[in-house]
Amino acid sequence: MAEDKAKNPHVLFFPFPIQGHIPPMLKLAELLSLSGFHITFLNTETIHNRLLKNSPALEQLAQQPRFRFKTLPDGLTSNNTEPILQVVDLVDSIRARCSELYRETLVPQNGEDPDGWPPVTCVVADGMMPVAFDVAEEMMVPVILLRTSSPCSVWAYYSIPELIKRGELPFPEEADMDDPIQGVEGMQSLLRRRDLPGTLRHAKSPNDRVLEFFNTASNNLGRAKALILNAFEPLDSLVLSHIRSVCPIIYTIGPLHLLQRNLNSSTNFPSFWLQDRSCIKWLDSQPNKSVVYISFGSITTMTGYKFHEFFHGLVNSGHGSITTMTGYKFHEFFHGLVNSGHRFLWVIRPDLVQGITTELEIYTTERVCFVPWAPQEEVLAHPAIGCFLTHSGWNSTLESIAAGVPMICWPFFADQQITSRYVGEVWKIGVDMKDTCDRNTIESMARKVMVDEGLRKSVSEMANIARESVKENGSSNMNFQKLVQHIKSLSI
Ligand code: UDX
Repeated sequence: MAEDKAKNPHVLFFPFPIQGHIPPMLKLAELLSLSGFHITFLNTETIHNRLLKNSPALEQLAQQPRFRFKTLPDGLTSNNTEPILQVVDLVDSIRARCSELYRETLVPQNGEDPDGWPPVTCVVADGMMPVAFDVAEEMMVPVILLRTSSPCSVWAYYSIPELIKRGELPFPEEADMDDPIQGVEGMQSLLRRRDLPGTLRHAKSPNDRVLEFFNTASNNLGRAKALILNAFEPLDSLVLSHIRSVCPIIYTIGPLHLLQRNLNSSTNFPSFWLQDRSCIKWLDSQPNKSVVYISFGSITTMTGYKFHEFFHGLVNSGHGSITTMTGYKFHEFFHGLVNSGHRFLWVIRPDLVQGITTELEIYTTERVCFVPWAPQEEVLAHPAIGCFLTHSGWNSTLESIAAGVPMICWPFFADQQITSRYVGEVWKIGVDMKDTCDRNTIESMARKVMVDEGLRKSVSEMANIARESVKENGSSNMNFQKLVQHIKSLSI
């Protein structure tokens, strides 16, 4: 009997329901399904329908014999305008509305799985979903956590109580953002206030809702069977040793998109927007390393003012000047860009720029390309790309590292502020322009990064390490095999 069960590991995946968190979790789910496991993937209805609409990935996965999706209602209408508070509202709403359904999915009351599948033997939960942890623990199903953000941010969030104890959080009134921070072990000579995860900036009291949210999520690290990180050992060995002091078993299995390729996965991973592949054709006609690629991920928004500053900075960093610029409307940008002579590829999601009321139109010229959503991994790997102006989302950062593309970082929120510090000061594979948004800075940084051989050399060395780590005897590949064995052992 024990032998039969051991042959049937059944992993339930509970992701955090926002775009940046779903693809890494789906990639891992697919890899475990290729290892012969049964996979149940829980999505909220909103997310599931949106992903189904914009990419074939979910249908492809659902055709696999041991892969199924289940959905939970999220039912949320948040009145908050701050993105992080919307996220906290969403998590609370899921706890209130879905705990029962989740419990039933984990362990059906009548003991019968509706599809005749074996019982769930392990939950892989996003570390930002404490409800996934709590209910599974109550039902005595072992939990392995996955954190989709950078290891340095995981450690900084874990340090919230120490930061509060030292009086470093919340920030004092009129705090100097350049003051050093001492409360994150191992990062004392590195972090300034402005480098802590951006979501901590707004806390007004030690009992702040956002601080409590990250604190609760971090505390689960010490209770989980193991932690999975989309990272590779040599990238962050010091930080990892700190996290191991709390959660001794860590599987670093990244960059996941490279591991996935190495293990022959063929799924195209899903997104909330339809990919516009016209930019690849456009890139094919550009000289090597001549294009600045600009994308701010799936959540970041900009005001019209910031957009304007970025635009001018980029145009001025190039080989021409703008002749027509009368407002924020896109046809004005278009004429300006045509005249600028500068080459860049910019992802303008339909909801990126606040305050622009005209219908966004997508224009492509010889030297400028706007798309609503790009095949980013492919774009970064294209020889025409010279640098990446990014919001320092963790997926984007790993994709840029893997492609050997230096970065200009303009972090927006959450883990991005600390990740960009690591890009600029620890890994030295880019420059960090956080908390500035003026055309002169953008211009000088774009000029620098497009030609800086030192940055290019560091990032291409790091790309090699990343690629080695997913090969057969590489650390991430071997850690993945160990994870498979670990999950099998939980079903005995
Ligand atoms: C956010 C956080 O920033 C991130 O750090 C956190 O861990 C997860 O949630 P997001 O803001 O979307 O995610 O950024 P990022 O993590 O960089 O993910 C964006 C993903 O969208 C990347 O995988 C990127 O390849 C993809 N993308 C982006 C596209 O496929 N096309 C595009 O045009 C733009």
